[in-house]
Amino acid sequence: MCGIVGYIGKESAVSVLENGLSRLEYRGYDSAGVAIRNGGGIELRRALGKLQALKDSLRDEPIDGHLGIGHTRWATHGVPSENNSHPHRDASERVFVCHNGIIENYSELKAQLQAEGVQFRTQTDTEVVPNLVAKYFDASAEENPVERLAQAVRDACARLRGTFGLTVIHNDVPDVLIAARWKSPLVVGLGVGENMCASDIPAILPITRRVILLDDGEMAIIKSDSVEVCDLDDGKKRHKAVERIDWDETQAEKGAFPHFMLKEIHEQPQVLERLLSRYTNPARTHIHLDNISLSNEQLLGVRRIFIQACGTSWHAGLIGKYLLERLPILAVDIDTSSEFRYRNAVLSPDTLVIAISQSGETEDTKAGIEEARSKGLKVISVVNVPGSAITRMSDGVVYINAGPEISVASTKAYTAQIAALYLLSLRLGELHGLIDEARMQRRLEKLGQTAQMMERMLAPGSPTNDAVHIAAQAIKDTENALFIGRGFGYPSALEGALKLKEISYIHAEGYPAGELKHGPLALIDKERRTPVVAIATSGVVYEKMLSNMQEVRTRGGRVIAIVGENNPHIANGCLRTGAHEDDIIADYVIPVPELTESFAPFMHAVALQLLSYHIAVARGKEVDQPRNLAKSVTVE
Ligand code: AGP
Repeated sequence: MCGIVGYIGKESAVSVLENGLSRLEYRGYDSAGVAIRNGGGIELRRALGKLQALKDSLRDEPIDGHLGIGHTRWATHGVPSENNSHPHRDASERVFVCHNGIIENYSELKAQLQAEGVQFRTQTDTEVVPNLVAKYFDASAEENPVERLAQAVRDACARLRGTFGLTVIHNDVPDVLIAARWKSPLVVGLGVGENMCASDIPAILPITRRVILLDDGEMAIIKSDSVEVCDLDDGKKRHKAVERIDWDETQAEKGAFPHFMLKEIHEQPQVLERLLSRYTNPARTHIHLDNISLSNEQLLGVRRIFIQACGTSWHAGLIGKYLLERLPILAVDIDTSSEFRYRNAVLSPDTLVIAISQSGETEDTKAGIEEARSKGLKVISVVNVPGSAITRMSDGVVYINAGPEISVASTKAYTAQIAALYLLSLRLGELHGLIDEARMQRRLEKLGQTAQMMERMLAPGSPTNDAVHIAAQAIKDTENALFIGRGFGYPSALEGALKLKEISYIHAEGYPAGELKHGPLALIDKERRTPVVAIATSGVVYEKMLSNMQEVRTRGGRVIAIVGENNPHIANGCLRTGAHEDDIIADYVIPVPELTESFAPFMHAVALQLLSYHIAVARGKEVDQPRNLAKSVTVE
């Protein structure tokens, strides 16, 4: 899931590309590179590792020029190295290409081109693209160089199987940049006397707020004073709407926070309030989900719900399942998208499919939607990024409006997804006549209070914050951890384990607490090498959680319990039922504000996010850019 940018205009292309790449670095940070057209031709500069390495090289040996393409890499084919970095060029060094995606038939194409005498330099799939463009460009009889290049790009793309977002420049065609999209995100930014394209909106914001969202099978011929969008197959012109992005630029900056993750954790209360005011009336008695094109009759005809998503979005989906089973009391199934897309699930025609995705570009979730549509089913998606592919593939979208989420570890999008699913369950409940105005008002006011509770937890010196710091110090050196919960606490446990895994590299597993005795308990030893984080806030399963924690303690294990702040068993930072050592149930407690069960996941999330964050910082990890991961997984 690389990040690509292209620029043509009056500014220094290097500075615009560097700025754009720094806003896309969450998509991949194995290497970075630019190709800049300057007086003498196109100059290539690439560097292994983070973008800073490239910036340093460009600072030491600057490149002038007003046209260029840039790339930040997440390696899939060919190890991270300077040689495998993008931009890639053809054997004659005239065509330069940046690519986001995977060319599945590259080895076949490479063999054909090698048989035609083309020398390859890298192990990448991408290198076939500039060589194909060069081949068709040279073979073309087209007089007009811009049209000749555009046609060559179309011919090359017609040979590719897989996914691609491409930017292409040619040495012999000075004032044009070509962008092409097939299943990888690409937006075009319209400036004044300058234009650009990028994998994602934040990269465009410094130049303009006016964007064109390219669809699959489209290309853009970008000059400094014009942008033409046409069909990738037949070159026919396409009329495209120009969207205005209302995100303010600072949203894509860290501000005073040391990491985007901590900033985004702290944004959660406002995100929740913003969601409430967007979708409910001031009196909090009604919900209006205005981007759902399904009629009330169609929504009332829904008898089953099927949720599909990946990673953290899947965990939000699990909580959505519990909420939708409670209201409007429908059968709800859920699956990870990568399993659903190949499972040929048996889904009755009265099934509504819900797809959840922060980026709106996750390849498996997109394929899950195509799978659902191939079965003639309606799809509602819960998405953060406006204009993303999934929003354009769905019959309705609940935008979570969390603003740009830059840190790879998803936080504010997660709690916003849960809130959006909560609103959807209330809306369907209202439609089914299962909830009256008074109850609706109480529920929505509760959601408002939840935002305030989050604010309270996040305040410096709050009991939650202090306890998290102590627990983080206590377990920061462990190499294994278990997270357990019951009911709404189970998805929270899964999410807590994922957060710890992805940013601290501690091997962590989330489990339904009742499953401990069926295996994981074997991991508990007297050397206390596998601490257990237990989600034990108040509710019908609290007593059961107490027994599970005692099971761990009995085996000599260490327990960190997330509990309600009014829990009577809290004493001196631990949880105990009496004065004796054996009465200790949890070695450390993390108190969170008391909320009823269906709202408790919001409290769990903040406490678990802070815990994994402080452990990762204590272990000196790259919190915002964990190894081997990227923010939006646009390949299968
Ligand atoms: C979560 O912290 C991870 N970044 C990852 O699991 C993510 O949730 C998953 O890739 C799904 O992404 P999406 O929500 O953008 O579809």
